[in-house]
Amino acid sequence: MILLDGKKTSNQIKEEIADKVSQMKSRGERTPHLAAVLVGQDGASLTYVGSKVRSCERIGFESTLIHLDEATSEETLLDQIDQLNNDPNIDGFIVQLPLPKHINEEKVLMAVDPDKDVDGFHPTNFGKMALDMETFIPATPYGIMELLKRYEVDTQGKHTVVIGRSHIVGRPMSILMSRKGNPGNATVTLTHSRTQNIEQYTREADIVISALGVPNFLTADMIKKDAVIIDVGITRVPDTNHPKGYVITGDVDFEAVKEKASYITPVPGGVGPMTIAMLLQNTLLARKRHG
Ligand code: GUN
Repeated sequence: MILLDGKKTSNQIKEEIADKVSQMKSRGERTPHLAAVLVGQDGASLTYVGSKVRSCERIGFESTLIHLDEATSEETLLDQIDQLNNDPNIDGFIVQLPLPKHINEEKVLMAVDPDKDVDGFHPTNFGKMALDMETFIPATPYGIMELLKRYEVDTQGKHTVVIGRSHIVGRPMSILMSRKGNPGNATVTLTHSRTQNIEQYTREADIVISALGVPNFLTADMIKKDAVIIDVGITRVPDTNHPKGYVITGDVDFEAVKEKASYITPVPGGVGPMTIAMLLQNTLLARKRHG
């Protein structure tokens, strides 16, 4: 079994980006600037946004965190997005999800200028991705593709089963794996909460990508020997033995599944760190596009 080490790979990518940033600085060019908008106090979101901002500092990007109160109105958030769209110093920005219930997520994501949409969530960018046009690829699926590429995992003609059809992970993942290219050219089955006898699909899969959010859902009896296993789950499971009071748990029963898999991502240290690295990569692309 080979561990797909997202922590190590993301550090390599960050170093590559940091080198490019220092070259830009030495040429007297403006450095890339990422902004993140966070509404409310969701614990996981605070952690993710904090990591994104720290990573920017580490590689030499400018970063701005706009932290709005939970009670912020949709109108105020849309005004904030408008300001970021029109700020020439901001190359790209993200609105961290989930948003409070009183805010219409679709309306917010539609308001982001597609040229600054480094999350790749705007319909224009999502459509471009589906049509093989150059665009911002959503960071988590992009991170998985990059991990498969750097470890030279063969995806050509392989049966890939994606679990979960979210707009952020499962749906774009199914599109990217079926696109022409390497990685890509896979035969894809997209399964979800209404799929019957899901194990019937996972047992046939050469590659399983699980983005369900159910701890230890994928067990060893559900996979084929030598399958490639990508775990996108990051559920906080309460654990009083842990100083934080919880442990981050993936969708995959790692200890048992690793004995049967050819490649596997750990949780934590697999897909999570790759997501941040690819967001930075998208921000660098945005900066280059803004000229
Ligand atoms: N919430 C969970 N994942 C993501 C992500 O990749 N981007 C944003 N903006 N919010 C998220």
